[in-house]
Amino acid sequence: MSDTQREARDWWRSSAADVPKLVTETPGPESRRMHANTAKYMKGLSSQVKLFPVCFAEGSGITLTDVDGNKYLDFSSGIYVTSLGHCHPKVSEAVCHWAKKLMNAHDFSSPVKERLMEKMASVLPGRLNAIQLYSDGTAAVEAAIRAARAITGRHEFISAYRDFHGKTLGAVSCAQMSRGAALSYGPSRAPGFYMVPRPDPYRPLWTKPDGAIDTDAYIRFYETFIREGTVGNVAAFVLEPVQGWGGSIFPPDDFFPKLKGLCDRHRILICDDEVLAGMGRTGEWLTLSHWGVAPDIVTIGKSLGNGFPVTAMVAREEHGEALEKISASSSYGGNPMACAAALASIEVIEEEGILENVRTVGEYFAKRLQQLKERHPIVGDTRGKGFLLGVELVKDRSTKEPFDRAGELVYQKAFRKGLAWIPAGHILRMSPPLIMDEKRAAVGMDIIEEAIAEVESELGYR
Ligand SMILES: Cc1ncc(COP(=O)(O)O)c(C=O)c1O
Repeated sequence: MSDTQREARDWWRSSAADVPKLVTETPGPESRRMHANTAKYMKGLSSQVKLFPVCFAEGSGITLTDVDGNKYLDFSSGIYVTSLGHCHPKVSEAVCHWAKKLMNAHDFSSPVKERLMEKMASVLPGRLNAIQLYSDGTAAVEAAIRAARAITGRHEFISAYRDFHGKTLGAVSCAQMSRGAALSYGPSRAPGFYMVPRPDPYRPLWTKPDGAIDTDAYIRFYETFIREGTVGNVAAFVLEPVQGWGGSIFPPDDFFPKLKGLCDRHRILICDDEVLAGMGRTGEWLTLSHWGVAPDIVTIGKSLGNGFPVTAMVAREEHGEALEKISASSSYGGNPMACAAALASIEVIEEEGILENVRTVGEYFAKRLQQLKERHPIVGDTRGKGFLLGVELVKDRSTKEPFDRAGELVYQKAFRKGLAWIPAGHILRMSPPLIMDEKRAAVGMDIIEEAIAEVESELGYR
């Protein structure tokens, strides 16, 4: 790496030098005022916001600054989105360039789209090169459902408890919604969409005599389900490689290879929803690659444009013809700014050795997570690969009863100390920007550990 490249790679370090730095109590007075005023009109805010109503004014690299001037260390990347750090200069410049030159050209090609197509086809594994571009993850998942139907001529879909894929009818039919949301929507699953349990090593449904999770039992159940519970018309399994929203739940290593065997036997496709886990977050372009499985269709988003709304549905080359049957036309999908953001992001991942950084610093995160589990009685489980991490809090390690109150308190306490991150009830999720080094990773993990220890004292666990 040349000096200029090294300098370009280190652009975020100066803004991160003193983070976190708090100058008021948090959330500060201006944050509280602004949030209250916004919430008068804006309805349905996430629990993440309600539990900590901060308002951000700017972001640079791994640092977020709120409207009161407090600086937070970012362990959220927005919501798994700004993976190369807030306002990466190369990405921002690429978007600005096209914002001044050509904002929309429907689905005609453009110089930047041509380059993006070639780049995506070159980095994605397994001849995944039949591409459609969209502007949110949900739309990409809907396109994957259309594509699976067009490719197979079949119409049923199987997904899994606690997977999340978006909120429009097809995507929500594959996703677990909270009880409250499901009750307000009415029946949320379209006919022909089924959910099955998938292996969660911490909370296994089926185990072997030695207590280890029994992946074969899950596969046998799916086999029975395909025979007895469907009309024999299953187009695809739609699955996240790792359940992100569900709490960073990683399957056992033999799950996807065995599922692939089952799918091959029944000529069922694997639609791999990598909107959250893809594009480097776990140290590979696609998380499924960790298990040596190539999907038939993949959806990517979030990190793809590092904050600019650009997503993609990509199928294997041999399915290109079938994709001609489902139009790729959309108002915003593939606009020049979006293509520029995605192209620049992929180039940055290559130029700055991001995958390598994720693997190295990821090992540090894994070590710290293991220590949390050893030292803290309310930490029932920790898991992660690369920069996709989770901590599950329980009232009692033997019963594994979820500890929602502790989850809220730890989230709030750590945020108050200057760590921006993501709760999911009793499971705390972390998705730091992939540029982060071990030094800043340590600062964030220290804050989390301190917050857990304080909550344990308050709740009588130490
Ligand atoms: C795995 C997965 N798929 C799809 C979506 C929906 O993406 P979007 O919110 O961009 O529509 C999400 C959002 O979090 C997701 O995590």
